[in-house]
Amino acid sequence: MPNLSPAESPLVGQNDFGKHAKPLSQPSSAAKRIKWLWIALISTIIVALALGLGLGLGLGLKHHNSAAASSSSTPGNGSMGVVGTQNSTAFFLNPSMINEPPTTRNYNFVLEERTGALDGVSKGMLVVNGVFPGPTIEVNQGDRVIVNVTNKMPNSTAVHWHGLFQRGTNYYDGTRGVTQCGIPPGESMVYNFTLDNYVGTTWWHSHYETQYSDGISGAFIVHTPTEQVPAYDEDLVIQMSDLYHMWSGAVLNYYFTPGGIAGVPGNEPIPDGGTINGIGQYGASNSSFFNFTLEANKTYRLRLINTGSFVNMQFSIDNHVLTVVEADGTAVQPFQVNSLWLTVAQRYSVLVTTNQTAGAYWMRAGLDTSSFNYPSPNTQTEVRGVIRYGTSDPNAMPNTALLTNPPTLPAGSPGPMAVDSTALAPANVTAAPNATFTSYVTVSMQYPAGQDYLGEFLAFVNSTSWAPLMNTTTLFSHTGSNLVDSSATFNDSQLITTIDEVNVVQLEVDNLDDSDHPFHLHGHKFWVMDIGVGRYQGGAFNNTNPMMRDTFVIPAYSHAIIRFVADNPGFWVFHCHIAWHMAAGLLYTFNILPSQSANFQIPQYMIDQCTMSS
Ligand code: C2O
Repeated sequence: MPNLSPAESPLVGQNDFGKHAKPLSQPSSAAKRIKWLWIALISTIIVALALGLGLGLGLGLKHHNSAAASSSSTPGNGSMGVVGTQNSTAFFLNPSMINEPPTTRNYNFVLEERTGALDGVSKGMLVVNGVFPGPTIEVNQGDRVIVNVTNKMPNSTAVHWHGLFQRGTNYYDGTRGVTQCGIPPGESMVYNFTLDNYVGTTWWHSHYETQYSDGISGAFIVHTPTEQVPAYDEDLVIQMSDLYHMWSGAVLNYYFTPGGIAGVPGNEPIPDGGTINGIGQYGASNSSFFNFTLEANKTYRLRLINTGSFVNMQFSIDNHVLTVVEADGTAVQPFQVNSLWLTVAQRYSVLVTTNQTAGAYWMRAGLDTSSFNYPSPNTQTEVRGVIRYGTSDPNAMPNTALLTNPPTLPAGSPGPMAVDSTALAPANVTAAPNATFTSYVTVSMQYPAGQDYLGEFLAFVNSTSWAPLMNTTTLFSHTGSNLVDSSATFNDSQLITTIDEVNVVQLEVDNLDDSDHPFHLHGHKFWVMDIGVGRYQGGAFNNTNPMMRDTFVIPAYSHAIIRFVADNPGFWVFHCHIAWHMAAGLLYTFNILPSQSANFQIPQYMIDQCTMSS
């Protein structure tokens, strides 16, 4: 199958999608296109019949238009294992480990295809150790982490440790096409790094095409006794995610529907629903809820992580005030809310005290329907879970009548925290240092030059739409070259800003697009200096204790100014974390201190993996 181009085969493999697979956008003849459509139609009918007969679950067929026919490549076949969900006790952390001396913590990750039914609807998934969410990595600052990743999937992969600084180990950042080529099928790779200054809540996920949307993600928690957060009794992880019933490769093809979904270029595919710690609800097909049984009158730290692909999610617990104490690894001045929004890839710790009437309460993760650009009446727009305490009934459930009629907090209670999170300030009061290096870029979504409306509507930073290099990476092609700026050797899929001595970088971004973009910088946290409507016109901004984090939203038709200290050698990407936007090329790269990264001792087998077929 890898030898068939998507235009010739209705089966689009996981390795075939993306910008290098343009099912309908290549300058193919009309005859070829009609042939493709026929194949697509026939395969859709076959798939629909097979699914109807075999599973009887109606697998989200509402999205099965012609472009979605490629979802027949979903890794669903009878021989695959089933995705497990972890018992709620797996999401209780162990903060008592905080005083253990620094140690090495070993993990084995086995990546494979499985069939899951997270919200009752069966779907093909890619998961680690058979479970979604994947295993939590829980360590102390100063520990060494060794993760042996074995790829049992039919396509290559790479695992990224979101937010970690990887000082001196940029080659373990796990970014396909940038810091590694990918772990070929049947092969392994050992990630081996120490936890330096990143402390708090983060996560790991595949950084290879859109694989993380199919399930390769999990929490990554770094404890330290010196974190400036208020005391709490217990520590829990809550991962929330949007959920597509289609395989991510098919979702991406749908995104690239000629002329756009519902006829509007750039419309993002709307998810079918979502999950809380791996469990969702969809229509009548599922009525299970992720649930925590807690103790009354205790304070819990909830580590909230949006591991989704597209939408912001709004978290709340009925009748409870939440106190935000950490954002993306930055301890913040405690801030009370009744709910808070997380963009994809953002993390917050909130404290909640179990001091209300004993019983069970709904926990909610609402999908941000304001980003839905066409009707999607069957989407489950709120995922529910349960917390219960002080009750002798281990299965106590909240009143289902409250589901559509949520209780409100008493007058005078705090309100929601907006997605821009500008209300937050670091607990450790500082100002950002003055900038010594300025980089200005624009962000846009458009058809590439010379393509008409049947082409792919791609994402651009300035005039470059990113695609991974093939059989090498930006890091590998640079290492040993001793070039201060090797960007001249890269093709036009790479926009690289080289910073060859330590600088305070001020990055100025004009978002010319009509969508919000949750941007993330690898290897660093940055100060959010300013976010404002329209293009950046220069001028001063408030530098009083600016928020510092690694993922923030740049709203539609707005500008944002961030600063970071470029002192960490390596190739670090800055990209929109919406899976579909990144696949459309919304990524660019900082090449920091190349004279140091040229001396990295990169394991030879990682470089050899570039030439192994996938
Ligand atoms: Cu969550 Cu490029 O990463």
